[in-house]
Amino acid sequence: MVDRNALNSQRLGRRELLRYGVRTLSATALGVPLFGATACDGTERRTGPERQPDRPAGATGPVRDVRLVAELGEVEVGPGTIYGTWLYNGRFPGPEIRVREGERLRIRVDNRLPDTGTTVHWHGIPLPNAMDGVPGLTQDPIPPGGSMVYDYPATPAGSYMYHSHLGLQLDRGLVGPLIIEERTPHVAYDREHVLVFDDFLPDAPRPLEELAAVAGRSERGMMGRRGGNGGMMDRRDRRGGMMDGMAGIVPPYVGLLINGRLPSDPSEFALRRGERVRLRLINPSSATTYRIALAGHRMTVSHADGRPVEPVAVDSLLLGMGERYDIIVEADNPGVWPLVAAPVEGDAPPARALFRYADAAATAPRDGLPEGLRGGRRLGYADLQSIETLPGERSPDRRFDLRLSGGMMMRPDVWTIGGETWPDAPPLEIREGELVRVAMSNMSMMLHPMHLHGHFFRVGQALKDTVIVEAHMGRIAFDFVADNPGRWLFHCHNLYHMEAGMAREFRYV
Ligand code: C2O
Ligand code: CU
Repeated sequence: MVDRNALNSQRLGRRELLRYGVRTLSATALGVPLFGATACDGTERRTGPERQPDRPAGATGPVRDVRLVAELGEVEVGPGTIYGTWLYNGRFPGPEIRVREGERLRIRVDNRLPDTGTTVHWHGIPLPNAMDGVPGLTQDPIPPGGSMVYDYPATPAGSYMYHSHLGLQLDRGLVGPLIIEERTPHVAYDREHVLVFDDFLPDAPRPLEELAAVAGRSERGMMGRRGGNGGMMDRRDRRGGMMDGMAGIVPPYVGLLINGRLPSDPSEFALRRGERVRLRLINPSSATTYRIALAGHRMTVSHADGRPVEPVAVDSLLLGMGERYDIIVEADNPGVWPLVAAPVEGDAPPARALFRYADAAATAPRDGLPEGLRGGRRLGYADLQSIETLPGERSPDRRFDLRLSGGMMMRPDVWTIGGETWPDAPPLEIREGELVRVAMSNMSMMLHPMHLHGHFFRVGQALKDTVIVEAHMGRIAFDFVADNPGRWLFHCHNLYHMEAGMAREFRYV
């Protein structure tokens, strides 16, 4: 467990919390209780009458109708750099869906893709099982020309994402942000921006077997170090399906984007001195984990995977596929500053966005990497302290010890959880009401952001739905309360690992 004293000294003091505009952590600020009324330290947390019920049977607010059309289109990721791909409503990333907590979302999805079914998954939201969008588990794919209405309560508040959950469609641009605004944020801010990070792949994703075959070739030729050998050139570039000891099979990405822009032509955000800006950092990438820092500024993390945490100031953070962090940036250092997101595995040029003060004397950002990428304080999971009620610290009713492995030189297209490959793996059976512990150890050379559908789980003193298991013998465990019956996927959010078998089903029996 987390050393609370160490944690306290790392966290912001009370005065700083107030400076950041944190309101008292009681009643309404606690948000939606997930696990009953007892805090992890044994103290009762106060509940106000205005508190929302646990996972609501229904939403209390108005219905919000949204329409998503999955279709072919073109997208410009830099000046004159246009690619054909698959899109929601012709946009990349897909349109932002934004609602208030407690409203009811009714989203009609039209499938106008050629000759293929599709589904949409609402990543992170603990919704009714039938709305979860997993083909073969919770629904049949929406056929070409068909449509489906996803209908569920927008709760709890948080930064989420939606994406296709069929095959490799996620890597074709079928992603977008979904924001559920809280009634009473526990941090104050003047405005906010959403930043969506993506490894951009034009054209069709290559099937795994093909990528694996190319990877095998490159291994024999050059021991798999991608990007360093002109002889390994893909027809479009030289990143095509190569095998890197660290990066595994890497699709031929054209670049790492923030909000659909290449680093050479980054998105810009205006800042005014003295204001506080909330940034929602969302990573629906298929195969890229980022180390993120903002030059000239610290980042105060206020939410992890959408759940509120005690604000903690850091210089950089790691954002795995499927993870989200909300941060508060205090605009106290005029200039033009890059936010840089460097890939943790592989050697692609970092994604970039620019923050430009209205009163900046300079017009161009300073070169080089933000100091936060070279040193300083890095966010760790042990730094995250939920302000919500957590499941009690007691021994679990059920425990799974799962080894994550795969990516072997001879079989780069096989990844396993507990020695099994999806969809042939037997379900992991649980019962409603149980406290379930999942302890993972990573026997492989790549990290795995592991995502559980339909539930938040507890990691240390925080709630999350996606957690990175570090490469080379990384170990981490999470606990969750089995409070949402159904059939739920649990998988690595590296799309290529998932497609290569790295998924299991949690099944209520
Ligand atoms: Cu974004 Cu199965 O997940
Ligand atoms: Cu993985």
